[in-house]
Amino acid sequence: MADRFSLPAGAVVADQYRARVRDAQHDPEAFWLAQAGRLAWHTPPSAASRSYFTGDVQISWYADGQLNVSENCLDRHVLTQPDKAALIWEGQEKGQREVLTYRDLHARVCRLANVLRRLGVRKGERVAIHLPAVAEGVVAMLACARIGAIHVVLFGGFSAEGLAERIQDSSAGVVITADVARRGAKLIPSKTTMDKALALCASGGSVRHVLVVSVSGVDVPMQEGRDLSYEAEVAQEEADCTPEVMNACDPLFLLYTSGSTGRPKGVVHSSGGYLVWAGLTHELAFDAQPDDIFWCTADTSWITGHTYVVYGPLVNGATVLIYEGLPSWPEPGQWWDVIDRNKVTVFYTSPTVVRAAMREDEAVVRARSLASLRVLGTVGEPISPEAWTWFSEEVGRGQCPVVDTWWQTESGGVLITACAGQVPGRPGAAGLPLPGVEIALLGTQGHTTVDGEGEGLLCLSRSWPGQAMTLWQDHDRFRQTYFSTCPGYYFTGDGARREKDGYIWITGRVDDVVNVSGHRIGTAEIEDAVATDPEVVESAAVGIPHDLKGQGLVVYVVAREEGRLDPARVARAVGEGVGRYAVPEKIYIVKDLPKTRSGKIVRRLLRKIAADELDNLGDLSTLSDPECVQALIRQVAEQN
Ligand code: PRX
Repeated sequence: MADRFSLPAGAVVADQYRARVRDAQHDPEAFWLAQAGRLAWHTPPSAASRSYFTGDVQISWYADGQLNVSENCLDRHVLTQPDKAALIWEGQEKGQREVLTYRDLHARVCRLANVLRRLGVRKGERVAIHLPAVAEGVVAMLACARIGAIHVVLFGGFSAEGLAERIQDSSAGVVITADVARRGAKLIPSKTTMDKALALCASGGSVRHVLVVSVSGVDVPMQEGRDLSYEAEVAQEEADCTPEVMNACDPLFLLYTSGSTGRPKGVVHSSGGYLVWAGLTHELAFDAQPDDIFWCTADTSWITGHTYVVYGPLVNGATVLIYEGLPSWPEPGQWWDVIDRNKVTVFYTSPTVVRAAMREDEAVVRARSLASLRVLGTVGEPISPEAWTWFSEEVGRGQCPVVDTWWQTESGGVLITACAGQVPGRPGAAGLPLPGVEIALLGTQGHTTVDGEGEGLLCLSRSWPGQAMTLWQDHDRFRQTYFSTCPGYYFTGDGARREKDGYIWITGRVDDVVNVSGHRIGTAEIEDAVATDPEVVESAAVGIPHDLKGQGLVVYVVAREEGRLDPARVARAVGEGVGRYAVPEKIYIVKDLPKTRSGKIVRRLLRKIAADELDNLGDLSTLSDPECVQALIRQVAEQN
């Protein structure tokens, strides 16, 4: 039972935190049912969890409760604080700034919700959202929630193929996209890419309409009958819309993420449990205060954007900031200026951003005030003690707690962190499990638990309200992926180490997932894209340490015939099949891949060779052809 007790006696935490952990352990059902009181319900739930990790696996929270998520994020606050800023949006061009009060945001959401209803979108239907960092991204998510449509937010960096795959899998009926996305000096042709994606969808496709938001006003081709101007459509609608009453376990959204096997997985999140988790974790992790200006720099197409740009802060009635621009364009220091201009109090970003800022002249950050900041946070990848300390001292001026938050798309919100003001931060460690979160470290075979200090596979022994319910139309894959490695536990895919006083250090993915600048990339997805080239016999993608990005992607490719394949062509295949963001750092064309006698590619070796760690290649005797290793080292050296 040792894993049940997530807070060892040695941990020095605030009394309130300790009491919460105790309450959650003493009677989890009562603790979680009380947390449902954070929300406004049409029918309050009579029970919290009916979840189990064995057999068929069921994740079910607040099952008999009924609510509407957008009402919780908007209408409640319109009643009590209509003129409070809900959303501050700043564009990348100088002077572009818009402040939407709760009343304004409510009105915009209602207008779009009415448009969607008029276009025939019904409860449970999927709507794909493919927008850059504009206010309409938030409006679109909440409009879906208002009418009970399931949103599927798609990353602007996906290729047409990547978009098509996800649109088909979710069979979305309506797509909301933009004419273009601005990215520094570049204009990314969102609508054109979406047109290509829709052309790739199986004949007929599911998409009836495409709403096009005008971001820059450039002319884009519009397909008669299918494509509609967002602005013209919303202008026709009323600023009020009756919300759909939803069951707590009705899906709020599905969001695609990568795993160790080929196809991206549509992770399905609930309406009730997810929203409880978003609100609770936003409050706990960041010590949220009513007058916060909360800036989470994540794109809304990632789970971080869902939970900490949209649902967490808004359900708590906070003010969120969205900035469209890059950190250092047109010159370094843009984001520090955004903080100063808007008096941002909580700044939540990625270790990659911190590492990039560390490389700039210190004068850049020191020339800014940053006095409004109260709490700093990071997410998505490990933050080294050096980067943590730099962030704390240079950006936080030694005055702000830094919360490294560990979680995943599947967890809905933060699971492990050192909650600001409650748990002392420790550079490099993720922190402690939140109250009610029961983690367990398991042995590599998944059958034994590691008690106390030690290292193992990071698992959860009980469900939590934010846990994903299933994978879209594939519950069996859900069960297989997360509940078969360590029977009876949810397996996260990460390894972790626990210190004597309970602090958790994340040691990284133990599966074939690579984390490039916080982007979760399945190596199988990369290999599938590479395999579309007829000149490719086989390939293997691996992650190696990278100074700036955390991990860099390296792909080894075996060509059918020497000289017929070059790295640029392989890179193009990845760019087209997955997206520009996944194009590998380095591509090696090689004669052979190292394999075991049973034919399994030995990725460990490929990682070491790519990282130039040749001193300790380990035992080569299990390889079917140990000679191939020296040849491989030679071929790689020639291509470096
Ligand atoms: O490996 C962990 C890493 O990112 C994975 C989850 O990726 P994704 O679902 O895209 O969600 C990212 C944002 C929540 C995890 O399995 N990861 C996330 N946060 C951290 C982290 N690794 C180390 N430290 C973190 N704070």
